Amino acid sequence: MAARQRLICASSLLVEGGDGLRFDVPGFERPQPAFAVRHGGVAHAYLNRCAHVPVELDWIHGKFFDLTGAYLICAVHGAHYEPHSGRCTMGPCKGRSLVKLVVDERDGAVYLQLEHDGSARLASALRQHQK
Ligand code: FES
Repeated sequence: MAARQRLICASSLLVEGGDGLRFDVPGFERPQPAFAVRHGGVAHAYLNRCAHVPVELDWIHGKFFDLTGAYLICAVHGAHYEPHSGRCTMGPCKGRSLVKLVVDERDGAVYLQLEHDGSARLASALRQHQK
């Protein structure tokens, strides 16, 4: 059976190291904010929730990368995350991770992979956020 999925955006909207695209994901008590970015030529998506304090990373919508374009950064206290893994490498939540979502890019579009119950498929567990 083919996996369920939902269109996030056209591939052309995700520019390497550029602004991220914000969207909501289903499958929690209420839709959760999330974002997609492109890094290393690959589309990545995460819940828009810092691993330090559960707030959105981007004070200016879509600005997820630091000035170098090498790391995702939280605007609140400056946690730096690897764009490909979501792991925090610098800041108050070093060693913890963003919640990574499973996406698929094909035919010029980026799709969010869903579980059979319609919830977002997670590539990483929420337990880091439950400590
Ligand atoms: S809330 Fe993100 S680094 Fe503190």
